[in-house]
Amino acid sequence: ELAKHWQGKRLLVSAGPTQEAMDPVRFLGNRSSGKMGFAIAETARKLGAVVTLVAGPVALSAHPEIRRVDVVSAQEMLAAVTEQVKQQDVFISAAAVADFRPETAHDRKLKKQAGQDDMTLRLVKNPDIVATVAQQYPDVFVVGFAAETDDVLAHAREKRARKGLDMICANRVGDGLGFETDDNQLTLMTEAQERALTPSSKSQQAFELLAFIAETSF
Ligand code: C5P
Repeated sequence: ELAKHWQGKRLLVSAGPTQEAMDPVRFLGNRSSGKMGFAIAETARKLGAVVTLVAGPVALSAHPEIRRVDVVSAQEMLAAVTEQVKQQDVFISAAAVADFRPETAHDRKLKKQAGQDDMTLRLVKNPDIVATVAQQYPDVFVVGFAAETDDVLAHAREKRARKGLDMICANRVGDGLGFETDDNQLTLMTEAQERALTPSSKSQQAFELLAFIAETSF
């Protein structure tokens, strides 16, 4: 039944963390495993969608029918997403994009100086990929994620409106939930509707997310 709705639909998914280089051997990163984004991509493929996956550095493999573009930094992810998003029906931004990156990615390894007891690393803001897509491609149905440790629903609601997204998936993280785990509990939110899913595997959450998108947008 759901396959009837997704058959031939074009879906772009971003997944995984980004790594923001300090120098050739060091980076700032986060604990995203990429599992949620990969589960969405695989579930949509099984439903007959044409899936493109832009992935940060993760230890996961994707089905050969999924077109996969690997990236490292937020800036590279923005470039790949921008290149792929034209002609898509839906963009789901499941990647944990670093909000900031080191101001300078040094081309030689940074050395500690003799007697040095501290160091300051200056960070600059990364582009907001999902907000950029929502603003520039009003015809694409844009879905974001909000991984929060507290006041999950209120923060997610605010984030959806501020970023101009069609939908946001609120996701409690920490205390063994969300990042690096196999199970999840999403609350799906549009301007008009909110649906709290029962906790389950990431592929089951992906299935219910794709069903909700089909119900609300095509
Ligand atoms: O603001 P926050 O990082 O909590 O927002 C999370 C949502 O925004 C996710 O969908 C994430 O993929 C997206 N995001 C983005 N670019 C950023 C930061 C977050 O696309 N620089």
